[in-house]
Formats: sequence, C-alpha cells, structure tokens
Amino acid sequence: MKGTLKPLISEEALRARIAEMGASIRADYPDDTLTVVAVLKGSFMFLADLVRAIPGEVRVEFLGVASYHGGTTSTGAVQITQDLRSGIDGHVVILVEDIVDTGLTIDYLCRMLQVRGPKSLRVATLLDKPTNREVDVRVDYVGFTIPDEFVVGFGLDLGELFRNLPYVAVYVP
Ligand code: IMP
Repeated sequence: MKGTLKPLISEEALRARIAEMGASIRADYPDDTLTVVAVLKGSFMFLADLVRAIPGEVRVEFLGVASYHGGTTSTGAVQITQDLRSGIDGHVVILVEDIVDTGLTIDYLCRMLQVRGPKSLRVATLLDKPTNREVDVRVDYVGFTIPDEFVVGFGLDLGELFRNLPYVAVYVP
C-alpha cells in the first residue's frame, strides 16, 4: 500500500498506559469477575495487553463488528458479524474498543448490550478522537486522546493492513 507512516504512540508508551488502565479498571471493581467484551477486529492487541494488566477474575468475549468497509471515513452503519457466545445478564461488562471516532459504533453496541441486563456496562478505548463526535457517548477509560487523523497499527487497519505494527502511526496517503 502506498503512503507513509508517521509514528504517533510508541510501544513503550502503549505498554505503560495500558498497564495503568488495567489497574484503574480493577480498582473500580475490586471484587467482581469482569466480563471483558472486545470489539473485533481492531481491539485484539489492546485486549491482549489490557487483560494481562487486570488482576483477578476476568472473562473474555468477542463481538465482531464491521463499520468502515475498508475506507478512512465512517459510514455510520454498524454490522454485527459475530455475536457473544454467552449471556451477560448480571455481569460487570467492560466493552473494549480500539478507537472511538464519531461514537456511532460504541453507541450502537452499548444500546445492544444494555438490553441484555448487565449489572454494569463501561467502555474502555485505547484511542479517542473527540473532534468528529456525532453522538454523546460516555467513554469511561481512555488510553490516549488523539487529533483527527487516520491512524493504523497496534490492531488498527487500513483495508486490513497495518494491524501488525507494534506501535500506532498516522497514515499519510
Ligand atoms: P466510530 O463509529 O466513528 O466511532 O468509529 C469506530 C470504528 O471506526 C473503530 O472501531 C475503527 O474500526 C474505525 N476507525 C475510526 N477511526 C479510525 C482510524 O483512525 N484508524 C482505523 N480505524 C478507525
């Protein structure tokens, strides 16, 4: 793929911040078993680091979502490609996203999960791009707030590429 990558968040910074996020999630729920629901595919790398930073009992579930269809602007349409394998009734749920941009995806997913009766539902995102927000969503844990640029790496893709980069970079076409 043509274009250049401008490093934005280093491996070291990611590791340190995710460790803090895991500790603060556990501090908020010291005694609960947490059901961590990861939104695929973009959050897989963040998820792997985050759950290792949360001590105590943790369940992991996956939710498959397609929202960008290969481009760099949001279509707003959220398509569920894989639902949870088990119920979350009475669970303490942490919904894990790679990035919140317009907020449409997380808003849709929160509504969808809320009707399933979790005891609590919170959102953790690695990256937050607040400039483009279209819906007022509550994001409880934010790794890094970034400017309105298209980023790749550490799970985030452009047309399915760059997910394997160990750091986050701005994609300059
Ligand atoms: P939202 O619905 O606009 O908040 O977009 C959320 C989804 O869009 C994320 O889960 C990503 O899959 C994708 N997305 C938004 N911004 C970026 C970006 O800068 N790089 C890669 N994917 C992005």
